[in-house]
Amino acid sequence: MAAVVSAADTTSVYHQGWIDLNKDGKKNVYEDPSQPVERRVNDLLKRMTLDEKIGQLWQIDWPKRVDAQSATRLRNGEVGSYLGSDATVETPLVRNQLQHIAIEETRLGIPPIFGHDVIHGFRTVFPIPLAVACAWEPELFERTEAIAARESAAAGIDWTFAPMVDLARDPRWGRIAEGFGEDPWLGCLYGAACVRGFQGTNVADADRVVACVKHYVGYGAAEGGRDYNTTEIPDYTLWNFYLPQFKSCVDAGVLTVMSSFNCLSGVPASGNSYTLTDILRNEWNFRGFVVSDYESVGELVDHGVAANEADAARIALNAGVDMEMISKTYRDTLKVQIGQGTVSRRVLDEAVRRVLRVKFQKGLFDHPYVDETRYLSAYLKPDALALSREAAAKSCVLLRDEHNVLPLTPETKKIALIGPLADLAQEMVGPWHSRAHTNELVSLAQAIRDDAGSDFKISETRGCALFEPGVVKVPRDISNYLPLKGSPTGPDEIRDAVSLAKSSDVVVLAVGEPLDWSGEDGSRSDLGLPGLQQQLFDALAATGKPIVVVLFSGRPLAIPQITEKAAAILEAWFPGTEGARGVADVLFGRAEPSGRLTTTFPRAVGQVPFYYNHYNTGRPGFGEYKGNYVDIPTIPLYPFGYGLAYTTFEFGQPRLNADKISFAGKVDASVTVTNTGNRAGTAVAELYIRALSASAGSRPVRELKGFQKVLLQPGESRTVKFELTTHDLGYFDANGHWLVDPGLYQLWISKDSASGEPAWFDLEK
Ligand code: BGC
Repeated sequence: MAAVVSAADTTSVYHQGWIDLNKDGKKNVYEDPSQPVERRVNDLLKRMTLDEKIGQLWQIDWPKRVDAQSATRLRNGEVGSYLGSDATVETPLVRNQLQHIAIEETRLGIPPIFGHDVIHGFRTVFPIPLAVACAWEPELFERTEAIAARESAAAGIDWTFAPMVDLARDPRWGRIAEGFGEDPWLGCLYGAACVRGFQGTNVADADRVVACVKHYVGYGAAEGGRDYNTTEIPDYTLWNFYLPQFKSCVDAGVLTVMSSFNCLSGVPASGNSYTLTDILRNEWNFRGFVVSDYESVGELVDHGVAANEADAARIALNAGVDMEMISKTYRDTLKVQIGQGTVSRRVLDEAVRRVLRVKFQKGLFDHPYVDETRYLSAYLKPDALALSREAAAKSCVLLRDEHNVLPLTPETKKIALIGPLADLAQEMVGPWHSRAHTNELVSLAQAIRDDAGSDFKISETRGCALFEPGVVKVPRDISNYLPLKGSPTGPDEIRDAVSLAKSSDVVVLAVGEPLDWSGEDGSRSDLGLPGLQQQLFDALAATGKPIVVVLFSGRPLAIPQITEKAAAILEAWFPGTEGARGVADVLFGRAEPSGRLTTTFPRAVGQVPFYYNHYNTGRPGFGEYKGNYVDIPTIPLYPFGYGLAYTTFEFGQPRLNADKISFAGKVDASVTVTNTGNRAGTAVAELYIRALSASAGSRPVRELKGFQKVLLQPGESRTVKFELTTHDLGYFDANGHWLVDPGLYQLWISKDSASGEPAWFDLEK
């Protein structure tokens, strides 16, 4: 709608649509899509009042309906963004109503940006990010996130709070589920893939959303694995392990960054000008905007670095937090502080400029409304469901398979399907289940019933509950769509399960964690199976029947007793909407297990933090005075990079083009991989290096620098080749300078981080 207004009206009339005319009968520069973004931003900024500017920096809850309060706030220009959390965000209706008010009833017609956590799917939920990382296939993540973008954009969501690239070394921390594990190099690939999946090549397209890399920075190093807790990260470790994933997302074009809750080595991350300005803006040239995590600006008071809200606002804004999520310190104090001169107009303008820039880039000024019919057919499309199945199968990691009990074949005719997670479809979607509806989810039992065919006889019993009443944390009823999780274990349940096992050929036992024991605020002090599940396993194992354990969890569990006695263990994580079908595909051999761990499985909680890429001690190895545990083996239960297939692979010795490499040269490495079994299977060749005479500090005992997935037929051998530049051998010093040291290096190409023999080379000066 074009509203022609008279010259006298141009300063006071409410904006009537995106074509507003200035005194000369022309569009204002900021309204003209043909103008470059920077000109539009500058033009708009010039016209804004102080109140309007401050309004752009506040994100509030997306209201369920447009009531008088939300309409007034918008008309007053108090709101820059909405954060959606409930069913309202499944349709664009409320969103468009709000947008109409902003565009048509405010002086300048500045659209809010609508955000929602779309982490691993929207209505179609895909496996948790930790699972997809285990597929060692960043393109797979790009595809799942592209569908998540498509579905959420149809609901009117412009902006999501993902990827979460926090490195995690401590599985007590529940948010390990949301990231990619313990390797920064792999994390860089996955973070960038996620940004591409969400933003595409043109973020203004109707099926794309703005991505937000989080939580900046160091949040995953929470002490004791307790969420929101303090982190102590020396700069050397920060640069090499925690920052690279963020840089990779910035390079991939991510438009927003979220500042984290944690206190980072004494300075809260949401008030940390070293990380937010010196590194992010000055060093990396990030041009988008920073949003705080939920109330993390207000929490600067709790951290004890701000005496009051005004302090908190000043510290955060000056440090580089542009938009405040939920807490109101900017809204309530900035105007006065600007008047007093304690906050500069220049800093405020810069924050507003960054927010507006992203809104222009997303196309919100030119296409503020969302098609109100598209969402009706956008969800759970066949390609989305098929991808949730494919991604789940590729994310499964086969941890154990004695005597080839898997895949299940018609010889194992009678299957006892037992365990609290066998038929709990609602748990399949994991901690960030977004807009999943329970009745659209498939349980493992359903998947098996649908596809097993008539060769198998499947009998089912629960065996025990997922958890028992009286545990410290009773799972919460976290969404309207997810009902509570069943009754406690009945007196005969374990006994019934044992009799069923006795009359069967094999037991498939689905055990693990409730979905909300991982994710935000999902910390655990124990890494075993909750409730009576271990007891159930022990009773079933005592029958002597082969037990195939299917683990559903948001973290690695410490389960040495299961490893000893289970015939097979398949880690299925939380696989998503139709993910259980993919898990069943692996169990029955319709899909090969090709996942490899990107997170170490400890034997006991006392081993954590535990990760493969640690520095050496001065006393490596085993024996006395070597610093090993006296009560358990020091090695992991399953190391980073580990995973079995339904066939076996032999890796030869890695070969190098030379044992002396010049600085201008490159490292050509290769290995012969042979499928020594009698089924086709996918080997993952993992390339690790180690620098043995680093000048700025110890280097990890192994660092991942490359991988390739190779499908091999039975008996087939293939030479797998890698090329590393000398730049790939480098690392950061504690000041963030990239170094490549001459000297001795080791290089492995192996099936996991704990096996293989290294090749050696010298990098010559
Ligand atoms: C979480 C973020 C999330 C935000 C908005 C916070 O509590 O830490 O990861 O994006 O809420 O929902």
